Amino acid sequence: MDIKDIDSRLSGFYNLTPDMRRKLAAQHASLSSEDLSGLTAQGSLSLEQADLMIENTIGLMAMPFGIAVYFRVNQRDVLVPMVIEEPSVVAGASFMAKLARKGGGFEASSTEPVMIGQIQLLDLPDLQAAENLLLEYKERILDQANRCDSTLQRLGGGARDLQIRRFPESPVGPMLIVHLLYDVRDAMGANSINTALESIAPDIEAITGGRVHLRILSNLADQRLARASCRIPVDTLAFNTYRGEQVRDGIIEAWAFAEVDSYRAATHNKGIMNGIDAVVLATGNDWRAVEAGAHAYAARSGRYSSLSRWWKEEDGSLAGSLELPLALGIIGGATRVNPAAKAALALLQVKTARELAEITAAVGLAQNLAALRALATEGIQRGHMSLHARQIAVAVGAPAQAAARIASQMVAEQNLTPERAQQLLESWKPSASENPKNNRQENNPSENSQTLEK
Ligand code: MEV
Repeated sequence: MDIKDIDSRLSGFYNLTPDMRRKLAAQHASLSSEDLSGLTAQGSLSLEQADLMIENTIGLMAMPFGIAVYFRVNQRDVLVPMVIEEPSVVAGASFMAKLARKGGGFEASSTEPVMIGQIQLLDLPDLQAAENLLLEYKERILDQANRCDSTLQRLGGGARDLQIRRFPESPVGPMLIVHLLYDVRDAMGANSINTALESIAPDIEAITGGRVHLRILSNLADQRLARASCRIPVDTLAFNTYRGEQVRDGIIEAWAFAEVDSYRAATHNKGIMNGIDAVVLATGNDWRAVEAGAHAYAARSGRYSSLSRWWKEEDGSLAGSLELPLALGIIGGATRVNPAAKAALALLQVKTARELAEITAAVGLAQNLAALRALATEGIQRGHMSLHARQIAVAVGAPAQAAARIASQMVAEQNLTPERAQQLLESWKPSASENPKNNRQENNPSENSQTLEK
């Protein structure tokens, strides 16, 4: 695939209609007409495809598919597909990507795509002796694992190592856990590794004389990490009456809260996952696996804590970093079945699963910054109130053109009731600027949010 050099600064993107945005994004990323149609109601996942994906299918449930703009990751501009039902998330990511660009964008890296598969060994009289035997026969076991998937081997993946963990006092007696480290290349890898585990299990029993019980991958994929970092010049952080230093220090204090307190860390990390899950979902990946891995990783010290870190650089700028396990694939699973996921991958123009993980980590960091910036300054309710008001307006039957004006009036009056929305709707007359063909800005659901791309 040829990677086209694109400019992700689609200024004013939010002013366009969905159809115009889709065409512009497709043009920027040189999407094929087939990929483009995956993003339309007619071309998206069909009932027939859905019926092959899960059991007892009776229908489909749609979700908004948006694009975060302004992202620059490892010196490459990228349009980021995000599937999410929560307002302000796409706008927040875009706005923070715009700030991060002023410091050069995001830098991201990742480890080799090595997954961990676990084998539970029971009924062993001597754990140490069994461990010694497994290490002695390690190469034979790894060879056996490699015989399962010649394609993966050809692509440079396959078994990497065997690690043994001893649990002498488990509730069911002594237990040995064998970890198979398995490079799954561009797949999420659950199927490959589970197949490899099942193929080596009989040999492990033969070597140790023990009894193999479970054979399953671990979602704590801490050998498959993605990292992102950014640096924001302090002046860039100033807005309204807030000075840049004040915003920077407020963000660092807000992060410190999550660093020391698990109750806050859960919400802080949820904000990070708002961004990550949206990309994971858009690309047809397993977001439950990613969620499980992220939260388990956040508790790796024995105390659940923040996945990100924010600090002040010597030059006064704000710097942040994020590290988490990201088991993402660009082949297999729903990534190639769901036409919208195919389009998402085409938009991203990623060549490897690692690249996808790196971009996703950058989005998580941007999302975290958006939340901390809002929380550390005027709070998140300001943006949320206008969204809430808009939902009330829509609920009483206001057309899209009227909803924004009615909502801002209700917020100004601090009267967010259906009765007031109804009164305002009755007196509403469309003005030229509320004609959807003229201007979409007033209809942007998060126009008052501090997280909005400006
Ligand atoms: C809301 O979906 C996410 C936040 O609660 C994250 C945070 O508190 O950091 C705003």
